[in-house]
Amino acid sequence: MDSVQVKNPAELRSVDPVWAKIREAALSAAAAEPVLAGTLHATILSQPRFESALSYHLARLTGTTEVPAALIRQTFDEALAADTAIGMAARADIVAVADRDPACTSHLDPLLWFKGYHALQTYRVGHWLWEQGRQTLAHFLQSRASALFGLDIHPGARIGQGIFIDHGTGVVIGETAVVEDGVSMLHGVTLGGTGKERGDRHPKVRRGVLLGAGAKVLGNIEIGACAKIAAGSVVLEPVPAGCTAAGVPARIIGCVDVPEPALEMDQRI
Ligand SMILES: CC(C)(COP(=O)(O)OP(=O)(O)OC[C@H]1O[C@@H](n2cnc3c(N)ncnc32)[C@H](O)[C@@H]1OP(=O)(O)O)[C@@H](O)C(=O)NCCC(=O)NCCS
Repeated sequence: MDSVQVKNPAELRSVDPVWAKIREAALSAAAAEPVLAGTLHATILSQPRFESALSYHLARLTGTTEVPAALIRQTFDEALAADTAIGMAARADIVAVADRDPACTSHLDPLLWFKGYHALQTYRVGHWLWEQGRQTLAHFLQSRASALFGLDIHPGARIGQGIFIDHGTGVVIGETAVVEDGVSMLHGVTLGGTGKERGDRHPKVRRGVLLGAGAKVLGNIEIGACAKIAAGSVVLEPVPAGCTAAGVPARIIGCVDVPEPALEMDQRI
């Protein structure tokens, strides 16, 4: 998909529906808001495909005087070309936000404006670098994302696709954390170590988990598939699949009544 440039909107909708929706939203926005027409053209409408829009925008955001956007963009392009799964995950993340965030007005919003999305995609390229043994450049991207977006995601962490990080401010994800597909989390979530362990020391968050704002999950513990963690909880013990944990320290307070709480953003106990 990423190597195909399609001009016809109907064809694009069938070949790359996420990119088609982004372009359609950008066209509408450029017509409605002339102030933004220039940036919408540069970032979206003049780009041949989703991957190039993503690399253009993230490089422009993360570039510095010493490491200009053009150089960073080469790295993003290199990663996106070498591993097409990054672009597919980035699309799935946009769909996750559009589906789950009531504040999201179009598929364009996450790509252009949502810092949780920006930090996650910067992490994805950083993780690719990390896996290539390019730790220094990976840490550079982690540092830039942390400074700019307020989320600190270690490039060694393993994060699936269809991830929604709402607001994002203060999210910390440690080096050996695992976040499986379809997880939703709000601001202030920490997937950290207890401070007492070395090595594999971070939580393993299984598919479809919902992590409430400010939840601190500490240690190499498993949060089972489709579990829910209440806002402000400190979780020190494993949480079984489908259960809800709340409190400081957290205890199990019930079981979910929807199969995928993260997809529904179902925050009922
Ligand atoms: C407090 C801490 C240092 C553990 O200290 P500890 O003395 O080894 O404590 P334990 O894990 O043996 O737990 C002792 C009790 O305190 C409770 N407890 C531990 N950490 C707690 C916390 N943060 N808040 C509330 N209660 C906590 C435990 O549930 C346990 O209760 P119990 O005796 O009723 O079962 C650790 O849990 C912690 O919070 N570390 C900070 C880690 C952090 O900030 N990580 C982020 C990295 S990005």
